[in-house]
Amino acid sequence: MILVTGGLGFIGSHTVVALQEKGHQVLIVDDLSNSSVEVLDGIETASGIRPTFIELNLQNSTAVSDMFQHYSITGIIHFAAFKAVGESVQKPVAYYQNNLGSMLNLLAEVEKAASPIPFIFSSSCTVYGEATELPINENAPVQPAMSPYGNTKQIGEEILIDTVNAIDGFRVIALRYFNPIGAHPSIAIGELPLGKPQNLVPFITQTAAGLYPKLTVFGNDYPTSDGTNVRDYIHVVDLAEAHVVALERILESRSTEAYEVFNLGTGKGSSVLEVIQSFERVSGQKLSYDIGARREGDVIAAYADTTKANTVLGWKTKRSLDEAIASAWKWEQKVRKLL
Ligand code: WQD
Repeated sequence: MILVTGGLGFIGSHTVVALQEKGHQVLIVDDLSNSSVEVLDGIETASGIRPTFIELNLQNSTAVSDMFQHYSITGIIHFAAFKAVGESVQKPVAYYQNNLGSMLNLLAEVEKAASPIPFIFSSSCTVYGEATELPINENAPVQPAMSPYGNTKQIGEEILIDTVNAIDGFRVIALRYFNPIGAHPSIAIGELPLGKPQNLVPFITQTAAGLYPKLTVFGNDYPTSDGTNVRDYIHVVDLAEAHVVALERILESRSTEAYEVFNLGTGKGSSVLEVIQSFERVSGQKLSYDIGARREGDVIAAYADTTKANTVLGWKTKRSLDEAIASAWKWEQKVRKLL
């Protein structure tokens, strides 16, 4: 079985669907701290298969050990983590305890396993900080983290590098995501709107759905084409498919190194205003927004050099920004019963 930790989350649930579509048997563990058990129904609707689910906090080493005793786990895709950048500044201890403690409990089981278990790690382009070169490739320097959240991703990668060097045959792939957006075409799963959104696209769709009077664009005086920040917005289904390709690379012994890193993006940068224009184009409605002050910690621009993912991993995005934004809007309308 493929263990997907945090498998009821946004990227996790889409990855479970992609795994099941490729015939993999999936075990989800999730502590439901940032998701809900109804997502299981959505996964079943989207893929036709209901995965096995255990509600479990990965900080509980006994529960993790029991799980490995009970199930024959042949691969791990590790998403489970707290992931709110701003919140991590307020609660650093909880972030380090949860994000690193969970990973260490999983690795303790990998160490004990009779044979090495392939491990895919959900990392982030946040490790690059404000990259000096664009587009960003995997050799770009990892910069001092801008938040405890970002630091847990950097430390997580360092722990994995040390572990692959200590466990013979252990293979890890770290996937550094850029900005995941959108929803499965079935709109049976999507980005669950729990609390006020921090990210741009859910804020756009919730504003359009009438939950907020307007979107505030955080600054338009940056040195970019239109003064607003540039990001690489990747359709979550493209991202999910990359996880299956990465897992199968290890399962089929095609890894060329014990620890491999891939940047996952479209390779194209889009400004905040361009994302707003995309929304207005696909929805046929104007978005109410104004220009506000810059947000602390925002980098000017970040988008991926996808050469390594395309040529070594053998994966590339298939879906456009408009398709991603259209799917996000359709999901929002479904969630708000506007369809
Ligand atoms: C995108 C752009 C904002 C909201 C974050 C995490 C990163 C990763 C992806 C986990 C920025 C602007 C946003 C709003 C705005 N998560 N914006 N008004 O910050 O690039 O990345 O999510 O790995 O680690 O940092 O994404 O969607 O928050 O912001 O103008 O109301 O939209 O300033 O330029 P970000 P975002």
